[in-house]
Amino acid sequence: MKTTAAVLHEMEKPLPYVDSQPIVIEELELEGPGKGEVLVEVKGAGLCHSDLSVINGSRPRQMPMVLGHEASGIVREVGRDVRGFKVDDHVIFTFIPSCGDCRYCKSGKPSLCEPGAQANNAGLLMNGAQRFSRDNRSYFHHCGVSGYSQYTIAVPGSLVKVDSSLPFEHATLFGCAVMTGTGAAMNTANIQAGQSVAVFGLGGVGLAAVMGAKACNAQEIIAVDLLDSKLEMAKNLGATHVISAKDNNPIEVIQDLTHGGVEIAIESVGNAKVLAQAYESTMRGGTTVAIGLPHPDHQFSISAVTLSAMEKTVKGSYQGSCTPTRDIPRFIDMFHSGQLPVDQLLTDTIKLEEINEGFDRLHKGEVARQVILF
Ligand SMILES: NC(=O)c1ccc[n+]([C@@H]2O[C@H](COP(=O)([O-])OP(=O)(O)OC[C@H]3O[C@@H](n4cnc5c(N)ncnc54)[C@H](O)[C@@H]3O)[C@@H](O)[C@H]2O)c1
Ligand SMILES: [Zn+2]
Ligand SMILES: [Zn+2]
Repeated sequence: MKTTAAVLHEMEKPLPYVDSQPIVIEELELEGPGKGEVLVEVKGAGLCHSDLSVINGSRPRQMPMVLGHEASGIVREVGRDVRGFKVDDHVIFTFIPSCGDCRYCKSGKPSLCEPGAQANNAGLLMNGAQRFSRDNRSYFHHCGVSGYSQYTIAVPGSLVKVDSSLPFEHATLFGCAVMTGTGAAMNTANIQAGQSVAVFGLGGVGLAAVMGAKACNAQEIIAVDLLDSKLEMAKNLGATHVISAKDNNPIEVIQDLTHGGVEIAIESVGNAKVLAQAYESTMRGGTTVAIGLPHPDHQFSISAVTLSAMEKTVKGSYQGSCTPTRDIPRFIDMFHSGQLPVDQLLTDTIKLEEINEGFDRLHKGEVARQVILF
């Protein structure tokens, strides 16, 4: 079948993207669904910094690629041997496919699924297939999702079935921003009532972490960003203190506010220097959670002795350490009960044709999440 998709052919084109047009809207061939595959009509797809990082070259990937890894839609066809999904099911995509069978999946850590990571690194579906093409040239998949396309093919391990009453512009946000940010707060950091938390970087992911900290009844939630508009958004989501990193040294302000540091610091910028700031903002015995995805060449530098002498912990968080089939429905319930105001992450809905302008706005930091509605 034919599908209209947004395709990246070349990384590192200059800003602004409205002029350089790194993403091109094209009509592609979409094959499938083959055995063990699902055809999904995409209804919503979000613009996340991890897509921007492919465009600007800090997350190098195979080209040409149909980007988009935060999405939701409706199942239109199921291939042979697919169990658990049927036509008309509403689904949210996860950006790490899970096989259910590797040692990580079997030990309850599907976000670390080995075949899932290999497929994502190769730009393939987990079964090794490439389903998009044009003039007999195969295009690569992004994170097994490729949400910037009217239609896409995914394996069942990339999909979570959800209630059809959830609007797509909200459903979409659970696929990355909420799983990642709220999951980091609730799963990776496992924030306890009364704890003190700092969140560095208030994009869709960081704001979802602020929400998660609030839902865990953290006592102090300190939100840090360069932009005042982001600090305002964090206040509305429950931040008890905000710090402009443009005008202040956030480490000093946090040390002062908390008399020696926070129990948990979360980095959601994607900057190794900010990760070091987060680490230095934690108290003795404190935990730093790394969400951001810096360029693979960047190193994280801390005073080594503090790790032991201050019994500090540094933890990575991928897809919020979530088990998507458990956590997406749980987070949706918390949205419905008012504990996670996920709708506040949505700055705007846009058209597929506006995608380059959308990434200019994300680069400037002036938006939380923008969702393409098809
Ligand atoms: N670990 C995962 O599973 C996972 C999943 C999704 C996204 N990510 C990564 O998380 C990061 C955040 O993603 P996003 O979509 O929310 O990004 P975003 O661009 O929407 O937000 C980043 C925010 O950081 C702020 N910022 C920039 N420099 C700063 C500084 N020095 N100090 C404080 N704040 C600063 C920006 O103003 C912006 O508000 C990215 O690195 C992304 O690739 C990781
Ligand atoms: Zn993302
Ligand atoms: Zn697995």
